[in-house]
Amino acid sequence: MVYIKSENEIDLMREPCKIVKDTLAFIGSKIQAGMSTKEVDELVERYIRASGAYPSCLGYGGFPASACISVNETVVHGIPSEDILLKEGDIVSVDLCAYKNGYHGDACRTFKIGKVSEELEKLVQVTEECFFKGIEGLKAGTPLYDIGYRVQKHAESHGYGVIRSYTGHGIGKEMHEDPSVPNYGRAGTGMRLKAGTVICVEPMIAQGNWRVKILPDGWTAVTVDGKCAAHYENTLVVREDGVEILTL
Ligand code: MF3
Ligand code: CO
Repeated sequence: MVYIKSENEIDLMREPCKIVKDTLAFIGSKIQAGMSTKEVDELVERYIRASGAYPSCLGYGGFPASACISVNETVVHGIPSEDILLKEGDIVSVDLCAYKNGYHGDACRTFKIGKVSEELEKLVQVTEECFFKGIEGLKAGTPLYDIGYRVQKHAESHGYGVIRSYTGHGIGKEMHEDPSVPNYGRAGTGMRLKAGTVICVEPMIAQGNWRVKILPDGWTAVTVDGKCAAHYENTLVVREDGVEILTL
């Protein structure tokens, strides 16, 4: 069931969402070649806790860290490790959640380590564009799958694959609420979104095709073809006349 938030609840969500935004900006200023993804995770955890929030990925479904840190061919849910060292030319998505005031905020950015290839520059840029294309024209009354339709159209126009097995989602008192927000779909279909719906739109876009497999750790999702993937996510409120992005 989709839970429509009151203005008061949306106000309560602003704080965890701002903490997510600020944490990602902080990480963007620190992340560099030579760091392990474990060190990045420690910075995330410290920053979120110092902001008076809880890093709600930690322990979620048994996830062992505060951020999902996914390098190159890892699509999502990379487990931070002292053995994974960032190097020049990598792309690394940092996906994190903060819990405060009884609500979650959730966002992801894909960072470039030093100078990356032109191909990866473009992948990261187009993935971000997919988010903004996806929410173009979005407002109360928009059919849910219009979002995925727009994301898919933009990604595929560049020859990229849209990840199918992970989707965006509603968010609030729970990190994952209804509705599921796929990044592919048919225009004009799905429920009509109501004002006050809070969702995460999060295109996960692959250089090659969309097939992913999960490593034996039970979390890390990598592309089957070994090509790179990027991820970009924000938490937003559907409004009568548009959207309000809470993590930007
Ligand atoms: N932040 C992720 C999302 O976009 C969820 C992470 S799953 C976890 O939905 F288990 F790592 F928390
Ligand atoms: Co999310």
